[in-house]
This record gives sequence, structure tokens and C-alpha cells, in this order.
Amino acid sequence: MAIKLAPSLLAADFSRLAEEVQNIEAAGADYLHLDVMDGHLVPNLSFGTPVLSGLRKKSNLVFDAHLMITDPHKYVESFAKAGADIITIHVECNSNIDETLDLIHSLGKKAGLALNPDADLSRAMPYFDKIDMLLIMSVYAGFGGQSYIPDVNDKIREARRLLGPDFDIQVDGGVYLHNLNVPVEAGANVIVAGSAVFGSEDPAQAVRDFKAAY
Ligand code: DX5
Ligand code: ZN
Repeated sequence: MAIKLAPSLLAADFSRLAEEVQNIEAAGADYLHLDVMDGHLVPNLSFGTPVLSGLRKKSNLVFDAHLMITDPHKYVESFAKAGADIITIHVECNSNIDETLDLIHSLGKKAGLALNPDADLSRAMPYFDKIDMLLIMSVYAGFGGQSYIPDVNDKIREARRLLGPDFDIQVDGGVYLHNLNVPVEAGANVIVAGSAVFGSEDPAQAVRDFKAAY
């Protein structure tokens, strides 16, 4: 299966976001991964809807919003309005997951569900028929630039077995060109890469290299 590449904006130069996004879009990136952190579900803050709505006018990429926030139910509508196409919430959040996934769909958006490395796949299983993408975190949510945790490979393999060959399984954290084969061979097909793309000397070339690898 060909991979979809979702560069994470978190590692971009925030003084020239539109330029950064247009550069990776022209190079063939599939999604723009937008890491939203509330300083509560995760110990860090990042950005919110104004960044999405600003970039929405400058890019046609699929906006893949990864909401690392305690109460996503309160905010999914504003992310939908700001231009998110896929809205992913965490199993670790405090919102009612069923209701929040329904709300995302009622807004005409795709819904994703994320699991931190220590969360068992069984926590996501009750929602498999309600999600369009499963996000298996390969680092603990909260920071870019961490190292890939190989323990998650078994979870990816099991998810692929249960969800079938066509389902979108995303992996997020610590993926570079040199270890891309690890999540892909385990069964992931949507690859988030922050440092490896925007942190590189030439993000457009990094996108082309990732896309050429599979
Ligand atoms: C971590 C974020 C990731 C992160 C990936 O909380 O969800 O998307 O930005 O960054 P790298 O690719 O640098 O590990
Ligand atoms: Zn992310």
C-alpha cells in the first residue's frame, strides 16, 4: 500500500507558516498534520483554530487536526469551521468519545481516534465502526523530536489485522526516512513526520524522499 505523508506543522518555522506549508504541498505531501495541545491533556501548548483558518486560505492540503486536548467535544465545531478535514481525538480525553465522534461526523468531517503508547488497542476497539482513522502514537503526545518507541509495533500489527488492508492507520512520532520501514512494515499507512520534514535542510526534498520510499 502506498503511504500518505502528513508533515507535522509543529516542526515548521512559525515566522513563515504559509510558505512552509505551500512548499511541502507542492512537493507532494498528502495531509498537513496540525498538533493542537492544551497544556492539560499534554504538558505543552501549541496553537489553535486561528492557525488553521489562516492557513486554510493558503493551502488545499487535507488538514489533519490532532487534538491533544482534554475536552475536545467543546472545540470540534470550531476546528471544523476553521477548516479541519480530519479531526482526531484521544482515548485519554475526558469527553464522551461516542458523542464526540458523532459530532465530528455530523459536521461532515472524518473522525480519528488516538492512543498514547501505553494505551491498549482494546480501548479503541469499541469505536472501530465509528472512526475513519486510527492514530497509534509512537511517542507520548506532547512534544516533537522524541524517539520512536518500538513497543508500539505490535499494536500497529494487531490493528492492521483487525481493521483490514484498506483502513487508515496513522503513526505519529519519531519517524524519519531511516526508520520509516518499521511502522510501514508493521502496517501503518499514514505517516506523520515533523522533525524529519520541517526540521530538515530541505523539507520539499524530504517529502519527495518519503514518498519515493514506498
Ligand atoms: C507529538 C505530536 C507529533 C510530533 C511529531 O505530540 O503529535 O505530531 O509533532 O514530531 P516528530 O516527527 O518530530 O517526532
Ligand atoms: Zn500529532
